[in-house]
Amino acid sequence: MKLPFALAKRFVAGESFNDAIPAVGQLNEKNISVTLDLLGENVEDREEADGNVEHYIKLLKSISQQELKSSISIKLTMLGLDIDRTYCRNNLFKLLEVARNTDQFVRLDMEGSNYTQVTIDLFKEAFKEYGQHVGIVIQAYLHRTKDDIAELAEMGADVRLCKGAYSEPERTALQNMDAIREAYRDYAEVLLEKTPYPRIATHDDELVQWIKKYTNKHEIGPSRFEYQMLYGLRQETMEKLAADGYNTRIYVPFGTMWFPYFKRRLMERKENIWFVLSTMFKN
Ligand code: FDA
Repeated sequence: MKLPFALAKRFVAGESFNDAIPAVGQLNEKNISVTLDLLGENVEDREEADGNVEHYIKLLKSISQQELKSSISIKLTMLGLDIDRTYCRNNLFKLLEVARNTDQFVRLDMEGSNYTQVTIDLFKEAFKEYGQHVGIVIQAYLHRTKDDIAELAEMGADVRLCKGAYSEPERTALQNMDAIREAYRDYAEVLLEKTPYPRIATHDDELVQWIKKYTNKHEIGPSRFEYQMLYGLRQETMEKLAADGYNTRIYVPFGTMWFPYFKRRLMERKENIWFVLSTMFKN
């Protein structure tokens, strides 16, 4: 059964790039940068993965042509990671070649914990070749993150720090929100100290305020890091942060394969279910 897009439109900017452009333009006008995400994950066939690479390449070129203030975020399983590692690596490098030629930036989103090691390994290979054109995401809830973050920070990698969105067992990830917040603060400190430009991805006021205080106290200027939030959530907060002189970026997903992303947003916060219901009743 195909669910109607109206359900997802609170969190997804459109079913195509053209549908998403107005949202990007409006955010850019408010001095908020964007990262565009063509939705989808766990592609199992080469034809589809090849199509995704072409789609991403076209996306990078369109961003350049239209002079949008936007990077892109991708999932390695969209580039065929479940099919074959080398095939996926070659697809990634093909994409990064275009990113380098068009002076753009590609971030590797982090998926479930089965993919953490291979995502970090491929990122490290890509970072050696493409440096500032590629970044990674690290999830504060994973037990292994303490070591990963130390290594990535030492490399000076471009890291987006988030809590983690996938359901993980206790042996793999922290389950308690206070413990996750504490880990988040510890890792944010490491990134702020050692990396040129950390990306602080959270809607959590406690963490947003903590970052403000920590950076003030340590005389880390607002140009040294960026707040990131998801499309459809807390836009007023982002506008206020931007007006206060902080760098801000909104993750704008689009595409027809929106269901898994949409489901994660609903599972994350019961208020999001109300958002969706109220959007439906407004139509
Ligand atoms: P969380 O949902 O934990 O809420 C904590 C508190 O924040 C709430 O109790 C409330 O007080 C406040 N709050 C939250 N949302 C609010 C709202 N809409 N309005 C008002 N108050 C609100 N995950 C992943 O596994 N891999 C990835 O690659 C990414 N990428 C990514 C990019 C970006 C830009 C963001 C913002 C997030 C991700 N994530 C992610 C998702 C991330 O891991 C996490 O699941 C969500 O951001 C939810 O955690 P939060 O810290 O945002 O708030």
